Amino acid sequence: MRIEGKNLQIEVNGLVVNYTDLGPDNAHVLLFVHGFPFSASMWQGQLDAFQEEYRVIAYDVRGHGQSEAGKEPFSIQLFASDLLGFMDALKIDNVALCGLSMGGYIALNTINVVPNRFDALVLCDTACSADSPEGREKRMKTVEDLGKNGIEPYAEASLAKLFAPDSLKNKAALVANIKKTILATPLKTLTKTLHALADRRDTCDTLFSIKVPVLILVGKEDGITPPEVADKMRDSIPGSELQVIPQAGHLSNLENPEVFDAHLRSFLMGVYPRSI
Ligand code: MLT
Repeated sequence: MRIEGKNLQIEVNGLVVNYTDLGPDNAHVLLFVHGFPFSASMWQGQLDAFQEEYRVIAYDVRGHGQSEAGKEPFSIQLFASDLLGFMDALKIDNVALCGLSMGGYIALNTINVVPNRFDALVLCDTACSADSPEGREKRMKTVEDLGKNGIEPYAEASLAKLFAPDSLKNKAALVANIKKTILATPLKTLTKTLHALADRRDTCDTLFSIKVPVLILVGKEDGITPPEVADKMRDSIPGSELQVIPQAGHLSNLENPEVFDAHLRSFLMGVYPRSI
């Protein structure tokens, strides 16, 4: 029997995964995957906005939020296997999968393995390419700095990259909340995930084979995975739709939820013409 609610726990691949599962039992399922280094809580606005028409689920990726980390090294493939294990544990065959940044990397790795488990993909502020050698070097330097200086300076420096200048200036509560989430992430999760991100494989040459409807969303001022990157993905994924979100940086669902949700809603109406 389904258990509905917030901060639920289920075992996946031998670890406890924390998740939220809301909305009608028989509705189509929207599954949200967060970016790094955040948690399922970054999707709270979308869970609230979509839970009347859809069954909405968000979970903490291993080591993040309140999910257990385990001892093995992290990889995006491991996160993809957790995602499938999570769907299996909840006995869900098919979902529309919405991933932001690292969540998008996980989504692209998962759809490659089991394309028939996904009705649609929403790729937000993400990319298909692997890190460049310089990007990898930067991540390893961050690992080193985290060891020397702790999380506070890393969190502070991250905010400047994550948000559009206008959000930094005018959305103090949102910025403070994200800083709190970063500071709450265990140091080990930060370093293990930085390694996983640095080692992730390029999925760009698999995009042409995606057969389900795809919506690509990107903040106009996303400096981490900018609109040009989203443009290239749109060109590679047959029939995909790209929408650029104004007044948003890398965290487009948080910085401009009205526009983000409007695009998501209209896309989903095409995917699932009857919501239930
Ligand atoms: C994220 O938001 O998940 C990160 O920006 C991903 C990355 O660092 O590549």
